Amino acid sequence: MTLVDPKVIGTSAERLDAHDKVTGSALYAFEYPVEQPTYLHPILSTIGRGRVRAMHTADAEALDGVLAVLTVFDAPRLADTSDGELAILQDPEVHFRGQFVGAVVAETPEVARHGASLVRVDYDVESHDTDFHSGRDDLYAPEDVNAGFPTDTEDGDVDAALAAAAVTVDQVYSTAMEHNNPMEPHAAIARWTPGGSGPVLTLHDSTQGVHSVRQTLAPMFGLEVEQMRVIAPYVGGGFGSKGLPHAHDVLVVLAAQRVDGRPVKFALTRQQMFALSAYRTPTVQHIRLGADADGRLTALSHEAIVQSAKIKEFAEQAAVPSRLMYSAGTRYTTHRLASLDVPAPSWMRAPGETPGMFAAEVAMDELAEACGLDPIELRIRNEPDVDPSTGRPWSGRRLTDCLREGARRFGWADRDATARAGSDSEWQVGMGVASATYPANTSPGSVARIVYESDGTYTVQIGSVDIGTGAWTALTQIAADALGCPLDAIVLQIGDTNLPSATVAGGSTGTSSWGSAIVAAARAFRDQHGTSPAPGAATSAGTPDNPDADKFALHSFGAHFVEAHVHRDTCEIRVERMLGVFAIGRVINTRTVRSQLLGGMTMGISMALHESSVNDPRFGHVVTQDLASYHVSTHADIRYLDAVCLDDVDEHANPMGSKGAGEIGIVGAAAAVANAVRHATGVRVRKVPIHLDDLL
Ligand code: MOS
Repeated sequence: MTLVDPKVIGTSAERLDAHDKVTGSALYAFEYPVEQPTYLHPILSTIGRGRVRAMHTADAEALDGVLAVLTVFDAPRLADTSDGELAILQDPEVHFRGQFVGAVVAETPEVARHGASLVRVDYDVESHDTDFHSGRDDLYAPEDVNAGFPTDTEDGDVDAALAAAAVTVDQVYSTAMEHNNPMEPHAAIARWTPGGSGPVLTLHDSTQGVHSVRQTLAPMFGLEVEQMRVIAPYVGGGFGSKGLPHAHDVLVVLAAQRVDGRPVKFALTRQQMFALSAYRTPTVQHIRLGADADGRLTALSHEAIVQSAKIKEFAEQAAVPSRLMYSAGTRYTTHRLASLDVPAPSWMRAPGETPGMFAAEVAMDELAEACGLDPIELRIRNEPDVDPSTGRPWSGRRLTDCLREGARRFGWADRDATARAGSDSEWQVGMGVASATYPANTSPGSVARIVYESDGTYTVQIGSVDIGTGAWTALTQIAADALGCPLDAIVLQIGDTNLPSATVAGGSTGTSSWGSAIVAAARAFRDQHGTSPAPGAATSAGTPDNPDADKFALHSFGAHFVEAHVHRDTCEIRVERMLGVFAIGRVINTRTVRSQLLGGMTMGISMALHESSVNDPRFGHVVTQDLASYHVSTHADIRYLDAVCLDDVDEHANPMGSKGAGEIGIVGAAAAVANAVRHATGVRVRKVPIHLDDLL
């Protein structure tokens, strides 16, 4: 692959949207000034399963300022009800507690909220089942798991290899349900303008993909995609929860059909997000490892049980990373689902890898201990020459480099091999390590358009979204180098379906996919128009096929190092130091990539020590519904934290030589914390979050 010559790529260019964001002039979805806005407040089911028998709306309708009340009995019909999560208010069935059963639209948010509280709902209650555990007798195997991976794999006789192994580990690990909590809640403004020219339906949406939202929603409302416009130039985080449209998008569009062309504004409250945005499934994972006396894996078995929903299947691919992480003589991986009366789980930063690598990397720590080997050495001994899952050569793996460079920088050589040996004074001190991996994929289907303007700048248009990652800046850098001009000669436009099609900001594919389209368009532009183009000269091109994608195993790798301090009496856990070292191809922007990696690691510490969505099976909903009861890492939790990228270029991944930085930072991070806690205390905890009483 011919790589772009990096000049602006690889610098620490400041974020182009930084000033607008920190001064508050960047507009988020809910904030768009629209004429004659109206406000929606939803009505949520208060039962876990059953059916709505009646909705008493008279008091709400009589309230001054109420414009419309929608119910399951009279809401506008959808043209397509095949998606069980999105087909809301189409029938009286209640599938989970917190489901939309109606909405009030009013002149102010306060009146809408009060109006919603006045609607009484009668239910026929049926018993619900929200109790996730591995002992259920109704677990089932889905056809495939998230991202299209096979549900199960089997390579050789794992049981026989385990029986013959010199050293074995056989343990069960679990991870908590977690909810994505971006700073900006899920929010949208919908407006119907039939009859005029232009789009019939306009949606300002807080989303990771304007084109994908339109693609999903337009047919549900009986529209051609061109009849709908979705706008999202600034997004305050998503972490996967805004990767797909969710039911609130449908609700606000349904409601906008009831208010004579006025726009309807709707933002989920933080509490509502815990039923209606997205979440990471809880997992129970059984891992069995067998090794010879030198620590070489002869057997690797990873069986994952995850939660899904009756309304919509989502099978988190937790065992998938174990298919490629290490060399093993025999291998077995499975996924089983518990389908419950709950909201549908969805994407949360590195779905699959995040819970899967927690279990797998704690298990590797246990194996190292059982073999009497340093955990870094154990991992290096099990490095596969080729990708065990495909047989393809790595396009660049470098896990060993990450482990060795991290060990050097972190002072791993000073670590005492024996758990608890680092204890001193009132704080017990330990060091832990864990590996990280994430696929380096490029999604097909993005298009970039380049126009040369009379003022000498290039307008670069692509309908992608910057959810707070720095993509706006990174893509501008890529355009500058691809066209061979300075950064300030590029004016990048994103976040609007009026711009050329672009894939979702997800799976760490954004910069790869959109950047490849921009490079293709830049090259085509130069071919057609040369280096002295006429004003108005324009060219479009799409993300090209990558012929190397089928020849090489394209993955990023990394290693996390944690120093944990655990108080001898209170068992308070502090992650005193943490370092991540990553091989992620060429870094487009050193500043924004470092932020991405630190953000992922912060979220990993949060997973290790805090985040847990607690479902009360009696009532059927998540009771930790705010940031007071659902804890995320704060500044006090994050002490010394650093992320380093190896000098790396992947010439098989894309024309920038880059691989993606959004998700690998969280992968393995929680395992490194758990392994450090073990080293500090001698207590092996096989679940996250780790609480103080787990160490007593
Ligand atoms: Mo990311 S969870 O693929 O948006």
